[in-house]
Amino acid sequence: MKINYQGIQIYVKDDYDSVSKKAAQIIAAQMILKEDSVIGFATGSTPEGTYKNLVRMYKEGKINFSGITSFNLDEYYCIDPKNKQSYAYYMNKHLFDHVNIVRDNIHIPNGMSDDVETECKKYDKKIAESGHIDMQILGIGKNGHIGFNEPDLRFEAGTHLVELDLATIEENSRFFESLEDVPKKAISMGIRNIMHSKKIILIANGDNKSKILEEMLFGDITPNVPASILQLHNNVTLILDKKAAKYVIERLVDNK
Ligand code: PGA
Repeated sequence: MKINYQGIQIYVKDDYDSVSKKAAQIIAAQMILKEDSVIGFATGSTPEGTYKNLVRMYKEGKINFSGITSFNLDEYYCIDPKNKQSYAYYMNKHLFDHVNIVRDNIHIPNGMSDDVETECKKYDKKIAESGHIDMQILGIGKNGHIGFNEPDLRFEAGTHLVELDLATIEENSRFFESLEDVPKKAISMGIRNIMHSKKIILIANGDNKSKILEEMLFGDITPNVPASILQLHNNVTLILDKKAAKYVIERLVDNK
């Protein structure tokens, strides 16, 4: 099923596998149309299936990463890239180690920097110099965060150091041995960099994302629900499974 809601394209798929396949097809199409695309990658459980499909398509000779530049949304603060919990490690494991992306073209915030302010400015500059992101992939936190831009009193524009919400720390503790091991801070690309991306693909699956997706799409635009700012972007595609799309379907399909 495909719904157009105020310019936002919403694909509703049966299950996680179909969500992952669709997301990978859209990213692949971008890479084929523009071989030197700047792609913004996300981490977390949600895009794992998408990356698996991209790796498969690369191995089948359908896509080529040699011209691609990448920027990741975020990285934990004070975690070494070699640490298995780092997002640098995640990206290598799930995507970069399996495709022909040029290492120098990969950008992930340096969580080990002694001078975070300069690191953030450098990241913003690199994104701007690349001509901005052509396609940004996003997940969404249960609290509405996108790329660790946590609920706040204002939208944070550029790359910045974030104090992670307790909800996020608890949510991400499943990847760590204990709650205490989860970093309390991260460096995140700010909302401006996300909003400057030419296209945005947000993927979500499961019941636990349904409520926040409803707030994001139909609620007020507020920094308290960071993803709600996407209502103002002119090229957003949501790829959801039926469970995540529960309230979207209720509002836009059942009640028509
Ligand atoms: P998840 O995280 O994919 O692990 O659910 C999404 C997010 O926090 O952006």
